[in-house]
Amino acid sequence: MKAWGGRFSAEPDADAADFGRSIDVDAELAIDDIRGSLAHVSGLRAAGLLDEAEAAAIGDGLRGLEAEVWAGTIAWDPALEDIHLNIEMALAERIGPVAGKLHTGRSRNDQVATDLRLWLKRRLATIEEAVVGLQRALVCQGLAHREAVMPGHTHVQPAQPVLFAHHLLAYVEMLERDRGRLADTLARADRSPLGSGALAGAGFALDREAVAHELGFAGVTRNSIDAVGDRDFVVETLAMAALAMTHLSRLAEELVWWSNPAFGFLRLADAWSTGSSMMPNKRNPDPAELVRGRTARVDGHLVAVLTLLKGLPSGYQRDLQEDKPPLIDALAVLGSSLRVMAGVVATLHVDEARMRAAATTGFTTATAVADTLVERGVPFREAHHIVGSLVARAEAIGVELTGLVDEDIRAVLGASSDAVAAGLAEDAGLPGALRAAAELESALARPDVIGGTAPRRVHAELAAAAERLGIDHVGPTPRR
Ligand code: ARG
Repeated sequence: MKAWGGRFSAEPDADAADFGRSIDVDAELAIDDIRGSLAHVSGLRAAGLLDEAEAAAIGDGLRGLEAEVWAGTIAWDPALEDIHLNIEMALAERIGPVAGKLHTGRSRNDQVATDLRLWLKRRLATIEEAVVGLQRALVCQGLAHREAVMPGHTHVQPAQPVLFAHHLLAYVEMLERDRGRLADTLARADRSPLGSGALAGAGFALDREAVAHELGFAGVTRNSIDAVGDRDFVVETLAMAALAMTHLSRLAEELVWWSNPAFGFLRLADAWSTGSSMMPNKRNPDPAELVRGRTARVDGHLVAVLTLLKGLPSGYQRDLQEDKPPLIDALAVLGSSLRVMAGVVATLHVDEARMRAAATTGFTTATAVADTLVERGVPFREAHHIVGSLVARAEAIGVELTGLVDEDIRAVLGASSDAVAAGLAEDAGLPGALRAAAELESALARPDVIGGTAPRRVHAELAAAAERLGIDHVGPTPRR
């Protein structure tokens, strides 16, 4: 017997049935559908719509089905359209006609909206754990290489020296904001639509708040028309997922470059690298590339659901069935990408010597030298110009800034149109002071502000992050 066959005299066309079927996708919601039904049984019982025996029979039947779902022994019937009708019919097969009372005061419209929110709450909890797992891997690498210096880049050109740990902590910050967005999304999604019926509200005096409470929701939706048509929480989740994937993709991009032997800062562990079918020499960072590639898929899912919603009238429309494939896939991609990146990061081989060598070429300490001139009273613009000339001179004779001799430095200062700078040409101690400022360690220590790369700042941030994430020792990175 069809759930809605009464007013029809013909069977649905096979193609129409095929086209409308969603069981392949929404079987994912089976557990949530059963839990929603169990709470609905309590609501029906409290309202006197089921007697004690009926409520017990339906409840036992549903709990039996839940066990079958977990055991993976249940076979869904494709003829039954979706998960809701499958569960209802499976229940009827097991407990008989009393199952027909379950759908009292309920529509698949409020049912699916409830199921999806329950599913989302479960799924986001595992995503959050995976975010924390990657944060831990990043912090552990930072702790394991707390003194490693690398050239910070802008425009992919050597810019200023930074601690490797500082760079890793940048991603910990991004992921912390992703966690915040996840929590915000969850807070708004945490309302029970059950009792909204098809659109007008259930036709029985159901205690929606008690049912919501039983389901673990923080409250109930306040408008039945909105409740059955609202998929804001899907969009918010996808926006959060797309942004988190964007962060992973940027990290992936850096791992790809840094593991190129021309950089040589890192090596991906064998277990996270792949070879080439033709070139025996290759070590490819495929997992990082796939994270970068799958970001495109999640971006697409966000746009798909925004586009899905934009032309819909309020309330439920069947179009809304199309919300599930993008949502389910996006969170599968995000979850696996987070876990893969945690594995890649936790097992990275870091070449501190190569990083340091790269940081000492490319005149990355020039800004620190200019800052030192500013301390002697030279206006910054003029200091910038003078150090630019020093860099040109060093480059011309093939040395680093620390290799310039006194005469080179005096000549550049003496040529300055700024009186203070020109006067400094006579200061016998200055060339030595500027060479000292050009040393890697002193340049690194200069940005001693909150959020700067000075080691004492970074080490404090590392310690704070380790504390927040429950890392109490530097050992092997916890793997999730
Ligand atoms: N499979 C449907 C969906 O995912 C369930 C709701 C069906 N409601 C309806 N009025 N046909 O949206």
